[in-house]
Amino acid sequence: MAFRFHMAAVILTLVFAIVCASDPSPLQDFCVAVPDANATVFVNGKICKDPKLVKPKDFFFPGLNKPGSTANPLGSNVTQVNVNQIPGLNTLGVSLARLDFAPYGLNPPHIHPRATEILFVLEGTLLVGFVTSNPAMNMKNKLFTKVLNPGDVFVFPQGLIHFQFNQGKTDAVAFAGFGSQNPGVITIANAVFGSDPPISPDVLTKAFQVGNDVIKKLQTQFWCDNNYNP
Ligand SMILES: *[C@@H]1O[C@H](CO)[C@@H](O)[C@H](O)[C@H]1NC(C)=O
Ligand SMILES: *[C@@H]1O[C@H](CO)[C@@H](O)[C@H](O)[C@H]1NC(C)=O
Repeated sequence: MAFRFHMAAVILTLVFAIVCASDPSPLQDFCVAVPDANATVFVNGKICKDPKLVKPKDFFFPGLNKPGSTANPLGSNVTQVNVNQIPGLNTLGVSLARLDFAPYGLNPPHIHPRATEILFVLEGTLLVGFVTSNPAMNMKNKLFTKVLNPGDVFVFPQGLIHFQFNQGKTDAVAFAGFGSQNPGVITIANAVFGSDPPISPDVLTKAFQVGNDVIKKLQTQFWCDNNYNP
């Protein structure tokens, strides 16, 4: 009996080990291997502090009660609270943001490559939505959209294009939680039209099926705006 139980435990342990055997998910865009250990910067996230030197302030961030300034072309501001602001979040898999919107302010279509987002509206009225990845042939990417009021919560699945727009006449405030210490942000327009160096207009005219003049205009626009990367 005891032997059988022991065997079962061994088999279960083996199965668990096999199921869990995989590389960890990356916590940054890339991590190029270097032969010199002295030249390393990231260890899939950040290097850990000696636990003896850890202080309460390593887990602390103040001031999220204060709105970010929305005096910019988009009329929105995202205050991020991730591992770059709270070093104690390293390897813990969560982070937070505060989103402020002027009337008709927009957090433009963007992606978080490493995290699902859960958004809570505290004040105002937000039109939000996300679009699915490419479906089967001859079908369209599906938009899931909703108008959110104070107290409402909405989820944006990991890696999908999404946006939040204040369609009310008053300021709006929301808070978002993320399933990553460093969710990352790819603002679609900035990445495609404002990259450095720019993507060849040959690529973009073909991709968007528009003339060179349209692409030049967008590239000029987003090149200048790229210092605003929400
Ligand atoms: C790394 O740094 C240590 C201390 O500065 C030094 O002694 C060692 O030679 C370095 N290693 C390499 C591969 O450069
Ligand atoms: C967001 O708000 C902060 C705090 O007011 C400000 O320093 C920052 O410049 C704002 N960002 C944008 C893009 O307006």
